[in-house]
Amino acid sequence: MSDESDKPKFAFEPLGQKHDRAAFSCGVEPLDTYLQKQASQDAKKRAAVPFVLTPDGKTIAGYYTLSQYAIELRDVPQEVAKKLPKYPLVPATLLGRLAVSFNFRGKGLGGTLLMDALHRSLQLSEQVASSGVLVDAKDDARSFYKKYGFIELPKIDKRLFLPMATIEKLFLPAD
Ligand SMILES: CC(C)(COP(=O)(O)OP(=O)(O)OC[C@H]1O[C@@H](n2cnc3c(N)ncnc32)[C@H](O)[C@@H]1OP(=O)(O)O)[C@@H](O)C(=O)NCCC(=O)NCCS
Repeated sequence: MSDESDKPKFAFEPLGQKHDRAAFSCGVEPLDTYLQKQASQDAKKRAAVPFVLTPDGKTIAGYYTLSQYAIELRDVPQEVAKKLPKYPLVPATLLGRLAVSFNFRGKGLGGTLLMDALHRSLQLSEQVASSGVLVDAKDDARSFYKKYGFIELPKIDKRLFLPMATIEKLFLPAD
């Protein structure tokens, strides 16, 4: 018989030595190679902060990275740009990479990773301003992000944007 206590309790942790990067495989080779070879370096040099979702403190079920970034106001569609600050360069947060391991696919963890990244970005924007989250969607992942309200930037292929005002509404307490 199984009960709730048998289920793995997933936790978000900053990528560390204890995590098994070598075993991670999501089917998109650059995303696997990045985690295995580059992510720790980026963390050390403060180019990106990688967070992993783990069921046991070792296995990596999924990961994402966050960095400070900026977007040119002229790259944003007019209807979104009018709600952003009127500076040529608008502060933003880059969700540089996001991937779920093949072994954990289709269980809602992609959505869990994205929500954690958006919530963290919102919280951090209270300390260092950011007007929205940018992603670069690999392969067919554009429609994954669009499900959550991201809009395509017509001038930059595969880059999508979600205003922080929209993210804030996602996390408002329910009445
Ligand atoms: C895209 C990815 C993160 C989704 O992870 P996942 O854990 O399988 O997704 P979830 O189970 O959380 O699915 C959430 C929703 O997104 C949908 N979805 C999943 N993958 C999708 C895709 N590639 N395109 C469009 N929608 C997708 C699911 O059908 C689900 O919809 P529902 O809520 O209506 O049922 C995962 O397939 C992956 O890592 N792919 C390879 C790497 C990649 O493309 N990363 C993103 C770009 S950098």
